[in-house]
Amino acid sequence: MSDLVEIVDVTVTYWSRPGLGLRPKPFHAVKNATLAIATGKTLGLVGESGSGKSSIANALLGLVPVGSGTMRFDGQDLAAMTGGYPPEVRKRIQAVFQDPYSSLNGAMTVEQIVSEPLRVHTETGAEDRRQRAAELLSLVGLDPAHLGRYPHEFSGGQRQRIAIASALALQPRLIVLDEPVSALDVSTQNQIINLLYERQEELGIAYLLIAHDLALVHHISDRIAVMYLGHIVEEGPADRVYHAPAHPYTKALLDAVPLLDPERQRQRRAERKRETVPDLPRAADRGCAYSNRCPFAMNRCRVEAPPAYAVQEGGTAACFLLDENEKETRT
Ligand SMILES: Nc1ncnc2c1ncn2[C@@H]1O[C@H](COP(=O)(O)OP(=O)(O)OP(=O)(O)O)[C@@H](O)[C@H]1O
Ligand SMILES: [Mg+2]
Repeated sequence: MSDLVEIVDVTVTYWSRPGLGLRPKPFHAVKNATLAIATGKTLGLVGESGSGKSSIANALLGLVPVGSGTMRFDGQDLAAMTGGYPPEVRKRIQAVFQDPYSSLNGAMTVEQIVSEPLRVHTETGAEDRRQRAAELLSLVGLDPAHLGRYPHEFSGGQRQRIAIASALALQPRLIVLDEPVSALDVSTQNQIINLLYERQEELGIAYLLIAHDLALVHHISDRIAVMYLGHIVEEGPADRVYHAPAHPYTKALLDAVPLLDPERQRQRRAERKRETVPDLPRAADRGCAYSNRCPFAMNRCRVEAPPAYAVQEGGTAACFLLDENEKETRT
């Protein structure tokens, strides 16, 4: 059976808008990314800030154009759909974003927020919508008695539950979750992750789950992909990637102390936006993008870009350390 989502060789490019008379410059935020998500399964996508995770998510949602490559969803090539997705595609791909404080319309009641997708995309009458909104709230562990309340009356975790309820309204096949718990405290993070997992088990929805923290996505992901400066450097079964990472960058990511404090993370992002020179690692000019930071870099890594090598226990890693010839010469 083919996968629900098949992203092949996708590139996302942003063009700078310089002053009059200057040529716009391309910035490749995603470089030849290949990823798949099976029906009803979760792909965890991790990597440090600026690695291109949201760019992939937004490309899949049709929010940013795909420069090259194909992006199949349920057999249809989304990358070829310029000018927005048709309604039947939009219904089946939903999204939940990081910030539960800005993503919900504060002027709408919870009932309106949760039933809005039904109003826009279906012929459901007002009474049935109310009924369905109540069911949706129960599905995300909120009391249907709260239907008449407004977002500001809820905590961050509860707001994310409301956002999830709204994403579930049209019974989508895929939900893109772009750091859905990064702004929440650790115990609330776990509750939301559990909630997502339970609904997936019942409803068979596939997730693209983006996070910084590998430990967090590992629990509910079937597979994990790791990004570094626009490249997918490793992909494979979640347990294998987590317990036996094959790429030096994945190892470094697992060793790094995660930025658990959401306030610190917000500050850091705000600082990054203000800086003219962003505080990002720079890709090596040639060869493997990670070679200038990699403790295992060989001469070859500074000249040639590594292809994706199969990892014995499953998945792939783009690293010359996995090259059979390299192994032979090193032993
Ligand atoms: N609209 C845009 N125009 C120009 N550059 C952009 C745009 N959106 C993102 N970028 C750049 O593309 C790169 C990848 O950004 P992206 O938001 O995809 O990363 P991310 O992995 O989601 O990071 P974070 O963890 O901070 O959310 C970054 O260098 C970012 O500055
Ligand atoms: Mg992002």
